[in-house]
Amino acid sequence: MNEFSPGKKYIREAQHLPPSVHPGVVQWNCPSNIALVKYWGKKEEQVPLNPSISFVLRRSITHITVGYEPAAEHKTAKTTLLFNGREEPEIKKRMDSYLESIGKYMPFLEHLRLKIETSNTFPHAAGIASSASGFGAIALALVDIENRLSGNTIPENTFSKASFLARLGSGSACRSVYGGFSLWGKVTQMKGSSDFYAVPLNDLIHKNFQHYRDSILLVSSASKPVSSSTGHQMMNGHPFLETRVNQAKKNILNLIDIIKSGDTGSFARLVENEALTLHAMMMSGNPGYILMKEGTIEVISRIRDFRKRTTIPLCFTLDAGANVHLLYPEETETMIRKFVDDELVYFCEENKVIHDEVGEGPVKIEPVNLSDNETAGRRKVSI
Ligand code: DP6
Repeated sequence: MNEFSPGKKYIREAQHLPPSVHPGVVQWNCPSNIALVKYWGKKEEQVPLNPSISFVLRRSITHITVGYEPAAEHKTAKTTLLFNGREEPEIKKRMDSYLESIGKYMPFLEHLRLKIETSNTFPHAAGIASSASGFGAIALALVDIENRLSGNTIPENTFSKASFLARLGSGSACRSVYGGFSLWGKVTQMKGSSDFYAVPLNDLIHKNFQHYRDSILLVSSASKPVSSSTGHQMMNGHPFLETRVNQAKKNILNLIDIIKSGDTGSFARLVENEALTLHAMMMSGNPGYILMKEGTIEVISRIRDFRKRTTIPLCFTLDAGANVHLLYPEETETMIRKFVDDELVYFCEENKVIHDEVGEGPVKIEPVNLSDNETAGRRKVSI
């Protein structure tokens, strides 16, 4: 049976503008995330073709400040947006169309003037998904404003609603609003899972994975010849679609067992299988395309050699690009850093590597009386 979207409920409960709105400001930090089982392909309204699992990063963050006030009748621009202190027309355009697309869930937005300022802690084209942290951040800020306008109570569904709204901006963004690991996509065996928002998996995570490291090798910052949205589209009608969806579903269940049991060796095999399958889907589409560069392949083979000779369960994952994420246990950090410096940095542009790790999720800045419900990642999902 098809799952019902909570969208209708959100429309029913949507907050219209209260009689008087006092201007205010909300601020959030929201992390990016790295997928272990990859979301690749979607239906209408950002419903994924297959479930995915990721963890959020600790240091790769979007910071957002959203000021709001009643929009004057003779309004000029309703929304202003600064990215790193500058006007960026392309980002503003995407934000405007996003705000319009979620208007039915947040009708109060129509009567507000928003002043959005946003910046990232990581460089553009670093192989870190800025749309994930960016849409996660704006969704959290908007739900926060909605809660304030409705009388400052923080409903229990604050984070799942932010996840729902973030998904409409960018699919992978729905996994950025919780701490640690999260699951997006309906999986029958996972009670509470949904195609419409992500759910946190934190209670299931073995200590081996709670502080897993992710070092991101910047192999290429060149813009991609084929965008992710085209890649997603090409999965509809892909000759291996059914096989891929079934494989992802199996990998989800296996990965959940692995992250519960702490088996880092099986983790490495599964995560690499997902990364290579993602790129295999790109190569075997019609027309096929290749996003990996020579450096990507060279790094991958050196990682595999290293794993063989050391038995350290270092593994790689890739997003839709050439950069390589190295994933490894915290206690192997010194050895891996040395391996990166000795063998891998030469394949990176300007020797650039970003060292990150599993993070605790979004943070509301300078909250007064932070309530329990405002702490991300606490909701449970059971199996
Ligand atoms: C390869 O979330 O960027 O990173 O929904 O069109 O915005 P849109 O796509 P996006 O796709 C991310 C794909 C991926 C895998 C993943 O993060 O699961």
